[in-house]
Amino acid sequence: MLPGIVTWAEIDLDAIAHNVSAYKRHVGPNVEVMAVVKANAYGHGALPVARAALLAGATRLAVHRLIEGVELRQGGIDAPILVMGYTPSSGAEMVVSWRLTPSLMTIEFAQALSARASDLDVTVPVHVKVDTGMSRYGLMPAEATSFLLAVQKLPGLHLEGLFTHFATADWADLTHAQGQLGVFTEVIQAARSAGVRFPVIHAANSAATMHLPEAHFNAVRPGIGLYGLDPSSEWPPVFELRPALALKSLVSRVRQLPAGAGVSYGRTFITQKPTLAALVPVGYGDGYHRILSNRGSVLIHGQRAPILGRVCMDQFVVDVSHISGVQQDDEVVILGPQEDERISAEEVAGLASTINYEVTTSLLPRVARVYTRGGEVTEVEALA
Ligand SMILES: Cc1ncc(COP(=O)(O)O)c(C=O)c1O
Repeated sequence: MLPGIVTWAEIDLDAIAHNVSAYKRHVGPNVEVMAVVKANAYGHGALPVARAALLAGATRLAVHRLIEGVELRQGGIDAPILVMGYTPSSGAEMVVSWRLTPSLMTIEFAQALSARASDLDVTVPVHVKVDTGMSRYGLMPAEATSFLLAVQKLPGLHLEGLFTHFATADWADLTHAQGQLGVFTEVIQAARSAGVRFPVIHAANSAATMHLPEAHFNAVRPGIGLYGLDPSSEWPPVFELRPALALKSLVSRVRQLPAGAGVSYGRTFITQKPTLAALVPVGYGDGYHRILSNRGSVLIHGQRAPILGRVCMDQFVVDVSHISGVQQDDEVVILGPQEDERISAEEVAGLASTINYEVTTSLLPRVARVYTRGGEVTEVEALA
């Protein structure tokens, strides 16, 4: 497909735009969409996805780490970028110089940032996260008001946002998420009564945005749904999402094996009959999980070809005995559609005992990224 490239991910930026627009329509004109593009946009490629999401109506971006925000700025992204995770005080300088929006959790970091901002005579927008039931990052509800008051007084900082995150918004039973929402609402009210002002309030991930409209406030933070992957395994999406990523490769060898041949490391598969085997240059060195050994399958000529034996670092073998005319350089689909068949990230996740998030996020830089719009390639990201 591309000169010299054997394994690549195709990312359909129209699908990203469709999914962002669908979320936007769902929340209405008064709620901002903050597109979550952390972890290289769940493996899809941070910069092209961020650009597509902003073009489609997202007004903010969210990442987990400072360096992810810097990567977006270096790529020319100008929109507000929230760094949702921990930033050490040593990162204050970078936050200011790259115009990032950190999530504050300690007064020491807030003071370091305030000092740096004051030195440079700039104002840094900051958000504060409240831990309402995830036991992860964020202030405890009881500490929130005094912390917010202290931050509000620091020169050079603009307390722009307050947020929380749900632990179980993907469940059919939303009782726990509603409990978290109740705690968050109390924190908002207490802080407001004490005179704290924060114009942007956000809580909802993809699942909560779909199913918990009370949690929309004036911004939502969808991630997985923007990539067209199911936000929940317990209920279907309430609007159509289009998967954006397909993982593809080329048959690198076709070979007739006799009965009794051991396939791949450890001989975990022995052919019971003469078998036509195709070699696929994809492995755990690309982010394809080894647990898919003897479990997963791929599509060739629109038909399923099961994996025989172990997935290695760089390749695995599939059975193509039942598929006619398979040749070297035929296209292999590992994730995505081919003719009338499709392998979804959800299917692969089920076989690999994980979640759809991990299936795409695992894809490593060795897998070239090919971006398309209107079926045409618009950009290629490859190591060489
Ligand atoms: C704080 C925070 N907000 C939003 C998201 C987006 O969640 P999802 O991908 O489920 O929409 C995440 C993802 O893990 C997150 O950690």
